Amino acid sequence: MNPQKRNSMKQTFEEAIANRRSYYQISNESPVADEEIVRIIHETVKHVPSAYNSQSTRIVLLLREEHKKLWEIVKKVLRMMLPEEVYAKSEKKIDTSFASGHGTVLFFEDTSVVGKFMEAYPLYADNFKTWSQHTSAMHQFTIWTMLEELGFGASLQHYNPLIDEDVKRTWHLPKEWILIAQMPFGMPLSAPGKKDMKPLEERVKVFG
Ligand SMILES: Cc1cc2nc3c(=O)[nH]c(=O)nc-3n(C[C@H](O)[C@H](O)[C@H](O)COP(=O)(O)O)c2cc1C
Repeated sequence: MNPQKRNSMKQTFEEAIANRRSYYQISNESPVADEEIVRIIHETVKHVPSAYNSQSTRIVLLLREEHKKLWEIVKKVLRMMLPEEVYAKSEKKIDTSFASGHGTVLFFEDTSVVGKFMEAYPLYADNFKTWSQHTSAMHQFTIWTMLEELGFGASLQHYNPLIDEDVKRTWHLPKEWILIAQMPFGMPLSAPGKKDMKPLEERVKVFG
C-alpha cells in the first residue's frame, strides 16, 4: 500500500491487522495531532485485557526531543560495548530507522503489581511472570496496529536490559518498572519488506 495514502480511509479491524508491518525507514512527520497518539494509548491501556485484570502494563510515550534522547542513550550504550565498525552500522540503522521517527512508545511491566499477585496466588506464582509478558505483548500489538491505523509506520525493538538504568534515571521512573520493549514510530518513507509466510496448513489445525 502507498505509505502516504494509508490514512485516507478508515480500515476495518481485519484490514488494520493485515496492514500492520515493521517499518524501518521513518521520518519525524506525523499524520495526526499528538493528542490522537495519546488517545489511542489511553484506549489501549483501558481496554486491553491483563492476567487476573492485574493491569500491570505501564506505558511511556516519548515525543520529539524526548524520543531523540532515548536513541542517544541507546547509541551511548552500544558505543561502549561494540567494536567500532560494528557500532558504525548500528548507529546508521538507529539514525534512519528509529531516531528519525516522531516518537517511541516504551512498554514496561510493574513488578510490584505482579509480585502482589504471586503472593496472593502462590499456586500460580511462576505463571504470573509469564502472564505479565503476555499482557505486555497484547498492549504492544494493539498499539502497533492502532499506530498503523493512524497512518504511522512502527517497529518493535529490544535494547533492554542494556538501557534500563539510563531510561529510568532520565525519566524518573519507578524502580519496580521493568522495560519490555521499545516501539519507534514515524511517517513511513518506504513500503515494508516482503514477508515470508509459512503455509497455513502447517500452522493451523481445524477439527469438527
Ligand atoms: C516478540 C517479538 C519480538 C521482536 N523483536 C524485534 C526486535 O528486537 N527488532 C526488530 O527489528 N524486530 C523485532 N520484531 C519484529 C519481527 O521481526 C517482525 O514482526 C516479523 O519479522 C514480521 O514482520 P512484520 O512485522 O513486518 O509483519 C519482533 C516481533 C515480535 C513479535
